[in-house]
Amino acid sequence: DIGQFSEKLGYKSFIIGGVVRDIVLGKQSLDIDIIVEGSAIDLIKRYAKENNLTYHVYPEFMTGNIVFPNGLKLDFATARKEEYDSPGSYPKVEKATLFEDLYRRDFTINTLAIEITYSNFGKLIDYFNGLVDIKEKRIRILHTLSFVEDPIRILRALRFAGRLEFKLEKKTESLLKHAVEKDLLNFAPTGRINLELNLTFKEEKVLDILKLMDKYKVLYKLFGITLDKEKEKLLVKLQDNFLILKEILNTDFPTSSNYLYVLLSNYPQEIVYNLLKKYHFEKEAKYIDEFLSAFKIVKESQNKYTLYRILKSFNKEFLPALMSFLDSNKFKGIIDVLKKEKNPLIKGEDLIELGLKPSPEFKTILEDIFVKYLNDQFKNKEEAVSYIK
Ligand code: CTP
Repeated sequence: DIGQFSEKLGYKSFIIGGVVRDIVLGKQSLDIDIIVEGSAIDLIKRYAKENNLTYHVYPEFMTGNIVFPNGLKLDFATARKEEYDSPGSYPKVEKATLFEDLYRRDFTINTLAIEITYSNFGKLIDYFNGLVDIKEKRIRILHTLSFVEDPIRILRALRFAGRLEFKLEKKTESLLKHAVEKDLLNFAPTGRINLELNLTFKEEKVLDILKLMDKYKVLYKLFGITLDKEKEKLLVKLQDNFLILKEILNTDFPTSSNYLYVLLSNYPQEIVYNLLKKYHFEKEAKYIDEFLSAFKIVKESQNKYTLYRILKSFNKEFLPALMSFLDSNKFKGIIDVLKKEKNPLIKGEDLIELGLKPSPEFKTILEDIFVKYLNDQFKNKEEAVSYIK
């Protein structure tokens, strides 16, 4: 009934962007963006107050949102034009029509709109032939200066192409190549590159996207690197490691740090550090030292006990990357340690059950049992118990 409400206020409202694209593609989308021809702020405030809902408004951007009790969040924006002072900078905003609002966007596949104003509810608006491009699996920019106005779109084009298995339309492709060649990524704020890379590393098809970034020399412009077969193999291993480790440790791992440590692994530490700093990967830069020293010790470690000691002190967040570089023996060694650590043969409560009184000595006994378990001296609990007895 936002559509009804909108009509009452004399505004036209439209669902636009990613969600419409994903509806056409039959994919799920989490964010719903609504454009209001009129005033989004006014619509949000009145609707939320009348229905007793939580809302936020950002008048200087002419945007805001309404939060529903079930957690659904709708983002609203007044239809607007944006003026860029210089390529890649944050834009100034001004009221406009839906057409003008859509015209400033990146690719045709993101320009579809569905009207929700009551009297036109459900009407599909496709000013730029986005529907055909989705059907033909094409990424197409709306105007020649698109990449110049916003070089971040170079990264977005490749991210969408990889994610959706789309191709760059011919003219878009040649303009993208030209923009890369002209070093336009160097004009984009590094903070925005950081955001875009973080999104990239969270994509399911990250490897395909990285291959495209390599093909179009974007990896080279950003980091001075190319992808060879060796690197690709490491990246495949990294992806497997995320899954294997998640299963054992029951946790998700940060993606950016792990991908970046693998991607930049041919460089000396100082260069890696500087590149990470350049693109505001502060945490990743901070931990590179710890990562590399753990890596060195793991490589040199002779037995599972040393592996166990290192793993105890090492920040496990970077384990997926670290394990990509290991030979299969060492890899299996770490997996074994992690599994045994998760399910030790004997716990404190077992000792109590055996009639021992809780004491500081418990720790020593447990550690002793665990080391023997690591070295395969015990195969099962019974063997450990009879050892204690
Ligand atoms: N947009 C743009 N140029 C950019 C970033 C965004 O033109 N550099 C436009 C796009 O048209 C996009 C809209 O702003 O549809 C919203 O951006 P975002 O939420 O990043 O895009 P989605 O299409 O929703 O992407 P995703 O599926 O990754 O959420």
